[in-house]
Amino acid sequence: MASSATVNANAVIEQFKNRRTYYPLSKDLSVSTERIQEIVKEAIQHVPSSFNSQSNRAVVLFGADHEKLWDITTEVLKGIVPEDKFEPTAQRMAMFRGGAGTVMFFEDQDVVKAMQTNVPLYAEQFPVWATQSNAMLQFAVWVALEAEGLGANLQHYNPIIDAKVAEQWKIPSSWKLSSQLVFGGRTGPAGDKAFNPVEDKFKVFGA
Ligand SMILES: Cc1cc2nc3c(=O)[nH]c(=O)nc-3n(C[C@H](O)[C@H](O)[C@H](O)COP(=O)(O)O)c2cc1C
Repeated sequence: MASSATVNANAVIEQFKNRRTYYPLSKDLSVSTERIQEIVKEAIQHVPSSFNSQSNRAVVLFGADHEKLWDITTEVLKGIVPEDKFEPTAQRMAMFRGGAGTVMFFEDQDVVKAMQTNVPLYAEQFPVWATQSNAMLQFAVWVALEAEGLGANLQHYNPIIDAKVAEQWKIPSSWKLSSQLVFGGRTGPAGDKAFNPVEDKFKVFGA
């Protein structure tokens, strides 16, 4: 049986609350690159997946590789956004590039297809479940990195950067990019956040 220290759920919920969107970020990492790799590896191993299919994949970029991702994204956007409207986009790209690293999350379509073949009853559901599992991984990594004092924000420049990313980092063709979590040192507090009433979002019966 796996051992685990019992912690009050409030300690876990505190970390959920502590997870916020932080931009801009600095290149000052208060934790080692090894620690960040360890966090992502632990999360990818322990986040659940449908039928334990383990479709999640992640690539962590630091330093020049992180900057390369945002240079690639800038170049791709230059071909899409009109030149006279590019300045805000350029500033946003510079902001992400100014972070220390990026976690790229992927869903392995070979795993999804194998599940569809092996369990045809749920064929339509496997892509949805893979995305749900991937979202759990994104959340887990976001919470864990910020629990260590870092800041992070979640971006979605897929699918327009997919081909260039695959070429640059030799990503297997079955890995479908889902999101990019930019991380780095916090340079200020998270912005204000409005909360709709929890009563509108929650019901209970039989308690
Ligand atoms: C599924 C999902 C997609 C998101 N996509 C983006 C995005 O593309 N760019 C971005 O800057 N933030 C994105 N966000 C961040 C949200 O805007 C942010 O989480 C939300 O406003 C609440 O703020 P908080 O993260 O500080 O709690 C995304 C969040 C989620 C959960």
